[in-house]
This record gives sequence, structure tokens and C-alpha cells, in this order.
Amino acid sequence: MLKELDELYRNISCCRKCPLALERINPVRDGGDPGKATVVFVGEAPGANEIKHGIPFAGEAGKKLNHYLAEAGLARSDIYITNVVRCRPTANSGRRNRTPGREIPLCGEWLNRELEIISPGTVVTLGNVALRWLCGKKYGIGDWHGRLIIAPSFSIYPMYHPAAAIYRRDLEDLILSEFRELGRYLGRVGL
Ligand code: URA
Repeated sequence: MLKELDELYRNISCCRKCPLALERINPVRDGGDPGKATVVFVGEAPGANEIKHGIPFAGEAGKKLNHYLAEAGLARSDIYITNVVRCRPTANSGRRNRTPGREIPLCGEWLNRELEIISPGTVVTLGNVALRWLCGKKYGIGDWHGRLIIAPSFSIYPMYHPAAAIYRRDLEDLILSEFRELGRYLGRVGL
């Protein structure tokens, strides 16, 4: 599996499918052992901190995610984290992050291949971008958070993106209780 992932990441480093490639430094990659992880978390796209450190969820949203994972009884080493989009989508001449758009169908193919290689039992989508890429555009996180979706290759567990609680503090308690429930679910299916 590691060999196939190494090859995938070599291909991602040379990707020229969209203009974000012009600003790419290195693709962000989880340092954990995907062989041990039966659950994969999928975020949206890296931001400045992730690009700097080369690992997903390395900034403020990552601190939130670590806190929620701990509530679920999980450590980062128990799971594998990746993103739908591999380069940092920016606005204002690189000064701020933006939600990815036309990059999604181009980059999403890399995620499909990554999931094929890892073959997880459960995929936890964080936010709308990952949920919609894997389930279709009609799905919205406001309706689907915390509800298990049984898909042909793996189960999909949609969760709010951890950054949502930074902008909407009223979501914090809900997200915490849904991560605790996620932990119980993963315990039942034998993470
Ligand atoms: N937000 C994401 O969706 N992914 C990251 O890797 C970091 C922040």
C-alpha cells in the first residue's frame, strides 16, 4: 500500500491540471501509517500552515480537530487524514484562503485513487466540499452532519468541518457530541 501511495503522491507533485499547480510547494501528506487506519478523514484543502508543515490540519482548524478527536477517543495516529484539493486555493493575491471551486473535480480524482488504495471501512467527511465530492451536489452538511451514509465501497460519516466552530461558536457543543458519537460508532465497527 505504501508503495502505491508514494507513487500517487509523486504524480500529485507533478500535477498540472489546474493553475494552483503554479503556486504549489509540496503536496500535503499525512505522516501516519495508512495500513493501520481503517478510518480516513477528508477535509477541504490545505491552508498556509499545512503547506508550510507539509501535513494536513496543521493550523487552527487542526487544533480544533485534535480536540474533537480526543473527545472521540482517537489519536491522529489511529486515523489517516487527507483533503479533496491538494494545493492551497487562495484569494487576494495569496493573502487569504478561499473555498475551492473548479479545482474540485480535477483534484478529486486523486482522492478517489487514494481511497481505492487505502480501502477504508469508514470515511469521515469534514464539511461540505468532501461530502459533496463523495456523495453528490445535493448533499449539504447542515442536513447530513452526524448521519451515517452507507455507500458501495465504504460508509460515509459526514461531520461539520472543525473550522465551522471557529466562525460559529454555537456549533461547538453539537460538534463535540457528534464526535463522541462517532467514537462510539467506530468502536462498534471495530476501528
Ligand atoms: N482545512 C482543511 O480542510 N484541510 C486542511 O488540511 C486544513 C484545513
